[in-house]
Amino acid sequence: MRAVILRILRENGDCFLSGEDISRQLAVSRTAIWKHIQALKRDGYVIEAHSRRGYRFCGGPDLLLPEEIEPQLTTAILGRKIHYLPAVDSTNNEAKRLAVDGCSEGLIVVAEEQSGGRGRLARGWFSPFGKGLWFSLVLRPSFSPQEAYKCTLMTAVAVNKAIKKVTSIDCRIKWPNDILYEGKKLVGILTEMSAEMDAINYVVIGVGVNVNIAGDEFPLELRETVTSLAMLSLGRIDRLELLVAVLAEIEDSYQKTLQYGFKPILEEWRAASATLGCIVDVSGGGRQFSGLAVDIADDGALLVQTDTGLERILAGDVSVRARQGEE
Ligand code: BTN
Repeated sequence: MRAVILRILRENGDCFLSGEDISRQLAVSRTAIWKHIQALKRDGYVIEAHSRRGYRFCGGPDLLLPEEIEPQLTTAILGRKIHYLPAVDSTNNEAKRLAVDGCSEGLIVVAEEQSGGRGRLARGWFSPFGKGLWFSLVLRPSFSPQEAYKCTLMTAVAVNKAIKKVTSIDCRIKWPNDILYEGKKLVGILTEMSAEMDAINYVVIGVGVNVNIAGDEFPLELRETVTSLAMLSLGRIDRLELLVAVLAEIEDSYQKTLQYGFKPILEEWRAASATLGCIVDVSGGGRQFSGLAVDIADDGALLVQTDTGLERILAGDVSVRARQGEE
């Protein structure tokens, strides 16, 4: 109902629309309309009310409310169910709870703020109120658990494309799924899965994009290594437009993967890679070594040429030192 009232008011532009007109269109009482309008105002919508002329839409809040997202969506599955929370511990945690309860594929959990945002390798994720995209989506892919890496890589490719479309900023992907601009981190992706031996129950893909965070708003310890779209574009970015574009690109990558296999996505990943052709330091599983990142294998492993042979990296931390020959 709120979404319909908003649409009607928006379509009416600068003009007033009487409560009676709206109640007639929606076949509900004028009191019900008044109550919904009060609720919208509490959420930050600016709606002018005049005793004789009615209501007029004057502006919306910078919030990722479902009634803002839904009219903009171009997807068939992703975001068709939205679970919105002003604040949450982690959208991944909430999405996993909903996935266990049997939610349908494509549900997204969107929050304005996370108190316990999580990253890979048990790291945290800085998620201040209203300054980024902090969301998770639930997929139930038909491929095997061993192929779940496809979700991570296709999401990195998709988010990178959406950022390019909306902001014209050309970023790179660091294996497996960080999106960087000139070596500084802009996007993190955390994929978590529940599976049987041969089938996936669900995959939760958590995406964090630093959108409108100013440089001095980041904690001191992050300032050298992170960036935001607002810092790169010297202006505020429309989070709603970006979210809708990201969902469209992820759905497109997912459909392509299911229909045509993973090779086209791998090609896109290679083309956007910040890792291939570089000397990398690898740590994890009690080992540490360096080498030249030569390719990504069909199973998502990073192939690193060391003095002693070719290493296949499937997990762990990879830091990019320099392009080969530029050390
Ligand atoms: C990483 O770079 O290590 C991954 C960071 C992923 C952060 C996102 S924000 C939305 C979702 N919820 C979380 O707790 N984490 C992911």
